[in-house]
Amino acid sequence: MGRWSLLLAAAACLATALPAIAATPLPRLVSAHGRHMLLVDGQPWLMLGAQVNNSSAWPAMLPEVWPAMDALHVNTVQVPIAWEQIEPSEGHFDFSFLDTLLSQAREHHVRLALLWFATWKNNGPAYAPAWVKLDNKRFPRVLKKDGDTLDSLSPFAASTLDADRAAFTALMKHLRAIDGERHTVIMVQVENESGTYGTDRDYSTAGDRLLQSPVPAAVLAKTGRKAGSWTAVFGKDAAEFSYAWAIAHYIDQVAAAGKAVYDLPMYANVALRDPFHPGPPGGYASGGPTDNVLGIWRAAAPALDLIAPDIYLPEYAKYTAVLDRYSRSDNPLFIAETGSAAPYARYVFAALGHGAIGFSPFGMDFTGYSNWPLGARKIDADTLKPFALDYELLRPIASLVAKAGFEGKLWGVSEPEQTHTQQIDLGAWQAQVGYGLPQFGMPEAKGNPTPQGGVLIVQIGRDEYLVAGCHARVSFQPAGRNAGKHALFERVEEGRYVDGQWQFLRVWNGDQTDWGLNLTSEPQWLRVKLATY
Ligand code: DGJ
Repeated sequence: MGRWSLLLAAAACLATALPAIAATPLPRLVSAHGRHMLLVDGQPWLMLGAQVNNSSAWPAMLPEVWPAMDALHVNTVQVPIAWEQIEPSEGHFDFSFLDTLLSQAREHHVRLALLWFATWKNNGPAYAPAWVKLDNKRFPRVLKKDGDTLDSLSPFAASTLDADRAAFTALMKHLRAIDGERHTVIMVQVENESGTYGTDRDYSTAGDRLLQSPVPAAVLAKTGRKAGSWTAVFGKDAAEFSYAWAIAHYIDQVAAAGKAVYDLPMYANVALRDPFHPGPPGGYASGGPTDNVLGIWRAAAPALDLIAPDIYLPEYAKYTAVLDRYSRSDNPLFIAETGSAAPYARYVFAALGHGAIGFSPFGMDFTGYSNWPLGARKIDADTLKPFALDYELLRPIASLVAKAGFEGKLWGVSEPEQTHTQQIDLGAWQAQVGYGLPQFGMPEAKGNPTPQGGVLIVQIGRDEYLVAGCHARVSFQPAGRNAGKHALFERVEEGRYVDGQWQFLRVWNGDQTDWGLNLTSEPQWLRVKLATY
């Protein structure tokens, strides 16, 4: 029996003999009161993630991945699974990399999010097998208005959808067979940064036809519009909006087929447009889930649990605008990718303050590459440090943080560039945060030399808070029911969380509390009891 026949026989075997799903429930998202939480094995899970580089998903590269992941204190690693890698010739599957990846992830005590690189990887089919990307007749590319083609596959081709969906279903079947009881893989990203650069839509006959067809009821309900064709309802936006619906509907069908065999949480990620000056569609990836079409995507793709932004916008105003726009009652916030440069690390705190279920810097491995636009510096131990500090702080309290966020008992902020103080409204208290202050005395806050401060506050009792963060000073003023009263720290305990249990180390008092609580580059957890007199 040849290699392919063996693989085929194995795949057929798996298809018919799927093991029963484990007693622990499958990973899933829960939502209530406009907030969201990921449950893994029935417990709240905060994804302290990192993504490997695009070309790191090969067995020979994994030794360059794990040391970086270990140093980062991640609990979740995102790794691409490429269509060309698992189905190099049609109908013949090779899951050997996935098998290796899963066993090594288990050894390193991390969970995985798999990234399905297929019809779309940054707009194009680079990760589709050669038998797909070289057959423009069977798998047509997008047509521009002038009749030329773009290197982006058309979402209107049933043959492309069928082939992608079949491969993804085979992947999910294999995954269920090898991981249905362990849940090493907790989430799956379906495609990568879909959409098309260089046009607002596909000018094929099918694309033209869609413009004149009725807007589906789910889209009307989500956008509050009255019935009509895409052109009649959305006017000048009809081209982009109908194209967004077509791509979302395509990806929904891929995701739904995968879920039908193995029901893991699934999401799509976004190549963002500039939140303040987006320019015309096509300048950004048109049809992808950009903020202006998020409602259309949520309506068109019910099989996706969420739409996750890839945030490569270092400026505070832009970053937090994206957090605002993608944290919705109908969309759990997950930062699927973010920059690996130091200033991005602090945004994990603001993301959590916006209710994020996870955060993940991109390209965090030692394979010798960095996507920093201003220099060729590769990722090294120094690059990891600011992220490692945040994750070292958050990993022991990850479950508590996920639960507190879901219950509305969590606040998080990151250091802006232009202003150096922030107020956080906790209801009965107002927290004041200052950046770039010495530990002693009350000078004006000047900001850290590189913005890197962040603070997380979790309510753990009446007038009682867990405070963690770095490079920031935190003090409290009475507010709400305490307004106008004199206030003091009744007790500030420093300690650690071990297996979810608080372990007391010491009480902070005197210099350590007189000027506020100074959070530094040491991982420190404080339980703060406030009181009035
Ligand atoms: C966003 C994509 O999703 C990633 O795969 C990668 O290409 C980065 N851009 C750039 O490094």
